[in-house]
Amino acid sequence: MSMNPDHGGNVFAVARSLGVPPEEILDFSASINPLGPVPGVRGAVAAVFDRLGHYPDCDCADLRDALARHHGLGPENIRVTNGSTELIYLLPRLAQGRRALVIAPPFSEYARALGRDDWRVDFFRLSPADCFELPLVPLGDTLRAGYDLLILGNPANPTGRLYSPAEVEALYQLCRGAGCLLAVDEAFMDFCEEGSAKRLAAEGEGIIVLRSLTKFYALPGLRLGCAIGPPPLIARLAELQEPWSVNTCAQAAGIASLADPAYAAASRQLVATERTRLQAGLAALPWLRPFPAAANYLLVEAVRGPSAGELAGRLLAERILIRDCGNFAGLDDRFFRVAVRGRQENDRLLAALAAVVAAAS
Ligand SMILES: Cc1ncc(COP(=O)(O)O)c(C=O)c1O
Repeated sequence: MSMNPDHGGNVFAVARSLGVPPEEILDFSASINPLGPVPGVRGAVAAVFDRLGHYPDCDCADLRDALARHHGLGPENIRVTNGSTELIYLLPRLAQGRRALVIAPPFSEYARALGRDDWRVDFFRLSPADCFELPLVPLGDTLRAGYDLLILGNPANPTGRLYSPAEVEALYQLCRGAGCLLAVDEAFMDFCEEGSAKRLAAEGEGIIVLRSLTKFYALPGLRLGCAIGPPPLIARLAELQEPWSVNTCAQAAGIASLADPAYAAASRQLVATERTRLQAGLAALPWLRPFPAAANYLLVEAVRGPSAGELAGRLLAERILIRDCGNFAGLDDRFFRVAVRGRQENDRLLAALAAVVAAAS
């Protein structure tokens, strides 16, 4: 099967390998808002059809302004990108250095992007034993070894751990002292917005926040993200970015997504309720230990019994896809991640997992 093992969410490749339509796969491997895109997005995308004969607005000015209003920041603090992935791949050039420290376990694209630009990447590994706490003193000592860039996911993927604004501010101060750019990946922060470092980034120096509109607004197929940071960094990012990377449909979809606060409230409510239920259901199964989480996914440790890879294989036979986390730096083949989906789907996952665990007991 031609799948990128670094990612979840390749339902198309999985469906091809099983010889079924993608709609028949129940995908818990990518963490996307179970409510789907904001209803107004359909009409907004259709309405820009006649603009497709023009190049997109390079500055995404209308969406940038809508994002600025949404976050209570200035337009000069924001740069719209083709998913936060585009931003991850611009980071090495933005940071202008050679050595990065990545808080682990991390999203795999950081190391991939840095590796392409010949950076040396070290991992600062957090421990599942203390639910991935961030030990600031040893981290500060490590930073003194001389790094140009530090990357933290918040909430972290795949652990789901949310670090407090005070912890991120302390990390920022450590980075300032070490002359190192701090990049905070807040791809999932819309699920717990009060934790965001966006104001710190807008008012600070040497800090950039990465945001995604593909998770909370369920637009991974359209690609949309943005950077939040101090104006000089945002201006430099604009120089580095390839022209027209954000297409006209994505820009319209972003504006329509931000215009529906009721959807946002309903999404947060649904995910919070279902996350609690799914977590309790997983914890009730023998051998499974879900970690506390702040976003729309749960990291689970299979303390005994089948490995994560074996569990994933057995669930795939039921056309259920989960994310085996064995290849995340700092984790091993005992860990897997599941998205929080709608109630019936979560129940289907729990029932399938219960059957696998019972068969293995
Ligand atoms: C932590 C994290 N950051 C960034 C991304 C990239 O998201 P996108 O490019 O769709 O905005 C992902 C995708 O899974 C992710 O998990």
